[in-house]
Amino acid sequence: MQKHLTSTQNLSEKANYNPKLLDFSAKLWFIITTIGQWLFGVYIILVYQVSTFTGNFEKWNTVLPKGYVPNDFRGNLIVGIHVVLAAIIVIGGPLQIIPKIREQFPTFHRWLGRVYVITAIIVSLAGLIMVWTRGTVGDLTQHVNISIQSVYIVIFAVFTIKSAREKYFTKHKMWALRLFMVCSGVWFFRVGLMAWLIINQAPVGFNPKTFSGPFLSVLSTVVYSIPVSLILLEMYFYAKKAQNQRLSYLTSIIILLFTIITAIGVFGATMGLWLPRI
Ligand code: HEM
Repeated sequence: MQKHLTSTQNLSEKANYNPKLLDFSAKLWFIITTIGQWLFGVYIILVYQVSTFTGNFEKWNTVLPKGYVPNDFRGNLIVGIHVVLAAIIVIGGPLQIIPKIREQFPTFHRWLGRVYVITAIIVSLAGLIMVWTRGTVGDLTQHVNISIQSVYIVIFAVFTIKSAREKYFTKHKMWALRLFMVCSGVWFFRVGLMAWLIINQAPVGFNPKTFSGPFLSVLSTVVYSIPVSLILLEMYFYAKKAQNQRLSYLTSIIILLFTIITAIGVFGATMGLWLPRI
């Protein structure tokens, strides 16, 4: 009897399920994220692609402490590949997700998809080599965290391609979104850091000289190794599948909160990181 009542309740909850707020919050977050990633993409093109293709490699060093190192051809090549191809990730990622582009230009979607997935693997592996051979800013926690992210990227890239080849399109869409989230990790890190600096008006919880401290350990963990974006995405998938209204509202509110933080961070990163370096 109890079982019957519960299943009747579930059925009526499903019948009354309203996904409007969840759809709205996801769309709003995606619009702000797309604008922010494309701004990052423009920065990558103007700073790294222009300098690389004109042979002005020293320009990398205005941002990267160990970007161009004279007489280290192999190391420089890896950095060059990483920063030049990074633009494909941040510009191509949102393009792959916009439904209208997918529906109206399926051939473009398929080709960009192949390029995106291969690029994601190359950029991640190049980044991994850079962290562990040349070294970079930050401490060991940050280095381990970003390395874990590169493992996610490679695994999710493989599943995205596999599900597309097998024509499991629902699965493909889910893996592609997971891949987008982990590929966006480095962007989330910059945006999260700049939002934190704007909100606190000071470098609270870390030392800007050594670029280490509890805040950066937590930030690198929640964007790279235990990505909150991925947890939220799974909540979004589950709320939609189970048509669970309460979970749907909870997920929407968290997404809206992150949308505000993202908007603040995009503004901060554009004004503080990207525009001044162009
Ligand atoms: C897949 C998405 C990624 C994108 C779009 C990306 C983009 C970039 C960009 C644009 C830079 C230049 C720094 C700047 O101007 O802000 C950079 C630097 C760097 N990236 Fe990535 N990256 C990605 C993933 C990774 C991963 C997964 C790793 C490590 C496992 C990594 C390691 C590095 C390192 C070590 C640097 C040099 C930083 C320094 O010397 O201070 N990146 N990346």
